[in-house]
Amino acid sequence: MEIIRAETAGFCFGVKRAVDTVYEQVENCGGPIYTLGPIIHNEEVVRDMESRGVAVLRSEDELDRLDKGTVIIRSHGIAKRVYDKLEEKGLRIVDATCPFVKKIHNIVEKESASGNFIVIIGNPDHPEVQGIRGWAGKDAAVIQNTEDAEKFIPEKNRKICIVSQTTFNYNKFKDLVEIIKKKSYDVSVLNTICNATRERQTEAQRIAGLVDAMIVIGDKHSSNTQKLFEICRMACNNTYYIQTLDDLDLNQLGSVETVGITAGASTPNNIIEEVQNNVRIIF
Ligand code: F3S
Repeated sequence: MEIIRAETAGFCFGVKRAVDTVYEQVENCGGPIYTLGPIIHNEEVVRDMESRGVAVLRSEDELDRLDKGTVIIRSHGIAKRVYDKLEEKGLRIVDATCPFVKKIHNIVEKESASGNFIVIIGNPDHPEVQGIRGWAGKDAAVIQNTEDAEKFIPEKNRKICIVSQTTFNYNKFKDLVEIIKKKSYDVSVLNTICNATRERQTEAQRIAGLVDAMIVIGDKHSSNTQKLFEICRMACNNTYYIQTLDDLDLNQLGSVETVGITAGASTPNNIIEEVQNNVRIIF
């Protein structure tokens, strides 16, 4: 039997960097360590970090009560105001903001300092978007759908700078940009979508089209894993969504000759490997 494992399965560059940063800090730094929000949407990883003494700060109130320790900023990044607060409190900051997100912070900070109006295309409830919003000064808007774009009224004679949440859908982004462009003459568009998600989906779809059975590994709350599962199921009826090896009934796979494996952006490598090794042993 042949197993095809997606090269893009699991952590993207930014998430891997953030997770590695936490473990590096556990090894090398004394004193309490906190992450601002869970470092990734994966219960097992967060539990493992907690067992090594890393506490998750789940609200700004919890941060307000801190007076010492190391605070790790996750890959989504944070608003400037929160960054300033960490500095004022004299906490040790370890910034694991993904460089692709940091680049957007720099763009919006510079553009709004030049007097331009910032439009962020993305989900206003997502921490990444809230972080970007927080580097944009007060003249900024978040646009998520056609309705928001239609309602948006630009100021006369003011340049608009449009950026995007890194995981936003490219076609939707283009459509929303078109609507905004019709309302103003002076619009600069910076496509800040990261390719990692799209590459993972394209590869998963390709593999699912080649194999007899497909396994998608990821946390049940992970929206990117759910999406990956839907894409794979369209290409391969025999697709299974599991969180860990425990959820996989190997008998269910039946008499297959080829199995594909992929995983969401928050699935650690050891979970993927465990599944891969066990599938290999059984067949
Ligand atoms: Fe960074 Fe792209 Fe991942 S922006 S966190 S590498 S999805």
